[in-house]
Amino acid sequence: MRKLIIAANWKMNKGPQETESFITEFNNLLQSETDQVDVVISPSFISLPKAQELLADTAVGLSAQDVSDQDSGAYTGEVSVSMLKEVGVEYVILGHSERRTLYGDTDAFINSKLKKTLEAGLIPIFCIGETLEERESGKLESVLETQIKGGLAGIVAADLSELVIAYEPVWAIGTGVTATSQQAQDTHVIVRRLLAEQIGQELSDKVRIQYGGSVKPDNAKELFSQPDIDGALVGGASLQPDSFYALAEIGANL
Ligand code: 13P
Repeated sequence: MRKLIIAANWKMNKGPQETESFITEFNNLLQSETDQVDVVISPSFISLPKAQELLADTAVGLSAQDVSDQDSGAYTGEVSVSMLKEVGVEYVILGHSERRTLYGDTDAFINSKLKKTLEAGLIPIFCIGETLEERESGKLESVLETQIKGGLAGIVAADLSELVIAYEPVWAIGTGVTATSQQAQDTHVIVRRLLAEQIGQELSDKVRIQYGGSVKPDNAKELFSQPDIDGALVGGASLQPDSFYALAEIGANL
């Protein structure tokens, strides 16, 4: 049985002050949900120390939204894995479609960040997903295959035992359009098969594959009930403590 992992991706929202009010309220709502599901919050870099301070006594995990592929030095604007570890980060989101499309993150670049993340003992939340045009022109599987092969190139399977994949169809991100639970389930089966070709069936069966794209309390139960959907990476609905808590609660009470 794979434990569900429900992660908030706050994107470029919430400085330290808003982070403090969110987490204070969220902690008050949270009961024993983290016994059943992994709950993770991914604030902006600047808000990570505040989040760490407030989550220290909880089982809620802390994630960054990206990381440098370099250790240190003349890389203006970048943040290294050791800096993330220093502030208690455990997970790193990599290859988000916004980074791929707006900031030019290629499969090779994501691969190099993924290697750095694993070397540091952090857990990657590796995002993949197709555009609507790619899906409609029958390229879904080849797009996912290229992203998976490129992102995981040269990484030994044994190092990927804790890998989390977030399947996020680009057309469902921030649009209010969710993949149907059947569409998401079917695609997760494809992802797991492609992953098995890369890292072997046994390990692939252990990897948690989150769905992302307009997940909200209204549709979470149906999505989480699918056999290959192992949680969610959530944008909009993670920005309010009550709706993000509702997702954790739904996952915990399945
Ligand atoms: P929304 O939940 O706002 O659609 O965002 C999804 C996402 O991109 C999470 O990484």
